Amino acid sequence: MTASNGLVLGIETSCDDTAVALVDPEGTVVSAAVASQALIHTRFGGVYPEVASRAHIDKILPTVRMVIEDAGINPRELTAIGVTRGPGLVGSLMVGVDTATGLGHGWNVPVVGVNHLRGHLRSADLEARRVTYPAVILLVSGGHTLLAHMANPREITLIGNTRDDSVGEAYDKVARMLGLGYPGGPVVDKLAFSGRPQVTFPRPMIDVGLEFSFSGLKTAVMYYLAKAHDARPEDVAAAFVEACMDVLVAKCRRALLTHPAASLVVVGGVAASPQLRTEAKALCDEVGVDLCLPPLKWSTDNGAMIGLATWDYLATGNSAPLVPRPGLSIEDY
Ligand code: KG4
Ligand code: ZN
Repeated sequence: MTASNGLVLGIETSCDDTAVALVDPEGTVVSAAVASQALIHTRFGGVYPEVASRAHIDKILPTVRMVIEDAGINPRELTAIGVTRGPGLVGSLMVGVDTATGLGHGWNVPVVGVNHLRGHLRSADLEARRVTYPAVILLVSGGHTLLAHMANPREITLIGNTRDDSVGEAYDKVARMLGLGYPGGPVVDKLAFSGRPQVTFPRPMIDVGLEFSFSGLKTAVMYYLAKAHDARPEDVAAAFVEACMDVLVAKCRRALLTHPAASLVVVGGVAASPQLRTEAKALCDEVGVDLCLPPLKWSTDNGAMIGLATWDYLATGNSAPLVPRPGLSIEDY
């Protein structure tokens, strides 16, 4: 029996980034690396699943090696390996799960299958504990847009989901329409700062409930661009971002007013949006709750959040089958 070094290796391959990190139980990130596929997918304007799986196969072992060597640790002394088992692209998940399983056998280290969405939740506690309970969670990414309530770290209830597209997907599709490449979020946000909304795009389902719908907004932008040939891209971006923010803020306000909450936790790739960070802060000041945000670098997919979630699984004894599950909900382990 070898001594444990008190670290977990987190591996994330659910979509288009091969991300690996070493994390301690407090959420301190000892080393981390991401092999981004953005350059590969930019010519498609979105993620091409088969190409993503192949890129993960090429990058995963070199990325693991880099993280281990950077930290100068012996991998046989890891407490565990945590790997995303879902939700995500099945081929991409398979590369992560199979590689983690092989490494676990080779190093004689336990392997834990982790829900990617629970990883995003924990990203807000990386490098410092921030989340206060009970909490309302807004999870906004390329694959998901949802609201959840957390009575405590273990009790998670889904309270609102998207009926169609996610907000990140809408950003990515609008970026493609404007010829801005992939991922669309950062570039659309940046462009929006230099534009003025000259048109009011729809705010789908803004007045009712906690569910979202972004496909109509995306289509409205498409129809507008088809007829407004001389529209300035920065103005279109500004009008689009304004519509997204209005909807996200209205839904968060409703969730905070109808559920017990000490904090609002905003996580997922779109939590990197400076506009969303500013609007969420104003809302939290208005309602009188804490705003908990992950550090910018841990907002988009990363291995550190999977590593920190793995410590929760180890503490509670929750283990899930080590097989890819493309359709997991936030309530699942
Ligand atoms: O969480 P994430 O990295 O991957 C998924 O789990 O889907 O989220 C990726 C999404 C993409 O749609 C990307 O365009 C969006 O997050 N995103 C942003 C920003 N940075 C990334 N959206 C808005 N503003 C940003 N700065
Ligand atoms: Zn994600």
